[in-house]
Amino acid sequence: MRNLADHDSFTDGVPHATFAQMRAEAPLHWTEAFAGNKGFWSLTRHADILAANRDPATFSSAQGIRIEDQTREEYLARRTFQETDPPEHFATRRIVQGAFAKPVIARFEGVVRELARDIVARAVAQGTGDGVAMIAKELPMKMLGRILGVPDADLDWLVEKGDALIGNTDPDFTDTVLDKVDTSAYAMMPFRSPAGVELYDYADAILDGAKPVTDDGILRCVLDAEGALDRLAFKNFFCLLVAAGNDTTRYSIAMALYLLARDPALFDAVRSGQYFDTAGDEFIRLASPTLHFRRTATRDIDLHGQTIREGDKVLLWFVSGNRDAEVFDQPDTPILDRPSNRNLAFGQGGPHVCLGMWLARLELRVVLEELSRQAKALTLLDEPAWTRSNFICGVKSLPIRITAP
Ligand code: HEM
Repeated sequence: MRNLADHDSFTDGVPHATFAQMRAEAPLHWTEAFAGNKGFWSLTRHADILAANRDPATFSSAQGIRIEDQTREEYLARRTFQETDPPEHFATRRIVQGAFAKPVIARFEGVVRELARDIVARAVAQGTGDGVAMIAKELPMKMLGRILGVPDADLDWLVEKGDALIGNTDPDFTDTVLDKVDTSAYAMMPFRSPAGVELYDYADAILDGAKPVTDDGILRCVLDAEGALDRLAFKNFFCLLVAAGNDTTRYSIAMALYLLARDPALFDAVRSGQYFDTAGDEFIRLASPTLHFRRTATRDIDLHGQTIREGDKVLLWFVSGNRDAEVFDQPDTPILDRPSNRNLAFGQGGPHVCLGMWLARLELRVVLEELSRQAKALTLLDEPAWTRSNFICGVKSLPIRITAP
C-alpha cells in the first residue's frame, strides 16, 4: 500500500490499487503522523464517505478541511465558509449560491460555446501538442474571468497564482513546496502559500475600488449582497474561487481528453452525439480532481471494528468512493451512459456540495460537443505528467494529436 500522506505516492497518477486494497481490507485506515502533522483516518468506501458527508455534526469542517494540522489562529485567518458547519455555513452560502444556480449558469452557455469553439478550432489547427495547454486549461480560465467579472488581461496571472495555491506541493507550480521548505511565514495565508499574499493584494484592490469588476460577475454580486462578507472573508472567498474554479475543471477536461485519446472507439461513441448529457459526469467521476477533503470527528465513533476518537482527522477520499465496485459496475471503465451516476466528485450529499458544479458540467459538455464537431480523431502520443499532490489529481501535460475531419 502506498502512503497516502506522501505526495510522491501520487506522481505516477492516483494510486488506485492502494485505494482498492483499502476498500477491500481496511475500509477505515489509519496513517501515522507525518511531517510534523498528526495522523489521520481514511474513509475509502462510497457508502462510508456519503454517510460521513451527510453528517456534518459528527464529521465537522470547522477545524480545517486540508490534511495538515492548523492552529486555531491559522484556521480563523484562512477559513472560508467551506471551513464552517451548518447553520453558520449556510448563512454565507446563502449569499453566494444564487449566482451559481443551474438556471443562472445556463445563461452562460452561449459564452461557453463561443469560447470553446474558438479554443478547439485553434487546437485542431495546431494538430499536435499539449492537450492541457491547448484545450483543458483555456476554457476554465476564460470562464473564470467571466464568472468573477475580472479583466481578461489579468487571467494568466490569476491562474498562475491559483495553480500555485492548489499545486503547493509540486515544484512545477511553486518554489515554496509545502513539505520541502519552511512555510511558517505564510501560515496565515491561503494554502500557506506566498501566492496567497499576492491574491490578497488583488482582492484588496477590488475592495478599494482600484480594480474594476463587472456588474454581472459573482464578485460584484457578493460585494453588493445584503449582509456582505467582511474584508477577510471576501479575500478568502476570492482565493477559494481562483483556486477551486479553475484547476478542477481543467483536470476534468484533461482526463476526458486522456481517456478519449487512449481509446478511439470511445471518441467515436462521443462523436455519435448520443451521450452529451451523461458523458461529462462520467469523465468527472473518473477524474475526481479533488481527491479528498478532510473532516474532524466531534465525538468518538465506532466503525469497522475501530474507534475514531473525538478530534481525529478523517479524510473522505472521493476519488476512491468513485471507483467503488459496490456502486459502480466496471468502475475503472468509462461508460458514457452510466445509469444513475452516483459519483461523489463534487462532494454530493453534504452541505458543501460544490457550488461550481453546474458550470463545470456545462464546460465539459460543450467541450465534448465542440471536439465532436471539429475533430475526427484524438491520438495519445505519450502518458500524461501528473501533479505531485495527494489533494488534487492534476494533469500537468498531455501530449496528443488532434485530427481534423
Ligand atoms: C470538475 C470541477 C470541480 C470539482 C470536481 C469540484 C469539487 C468540489 C468539492 C468536492 C467540493 C466540496 C468540498 C467539501 O466537501 O468540503 C467543492 C466545493 C466548492 N466548490 Fe467545487 N469543484 C469543481 C468546480 C468548481 C468551480 C468551477 C467552482 C467555482 C467557480 C467551484 C467552487 C466551489 C466552492 C465555492 C465550494 C465550497 C462550497 C461550500 O463549502 O458550501 N468548484 N467543490
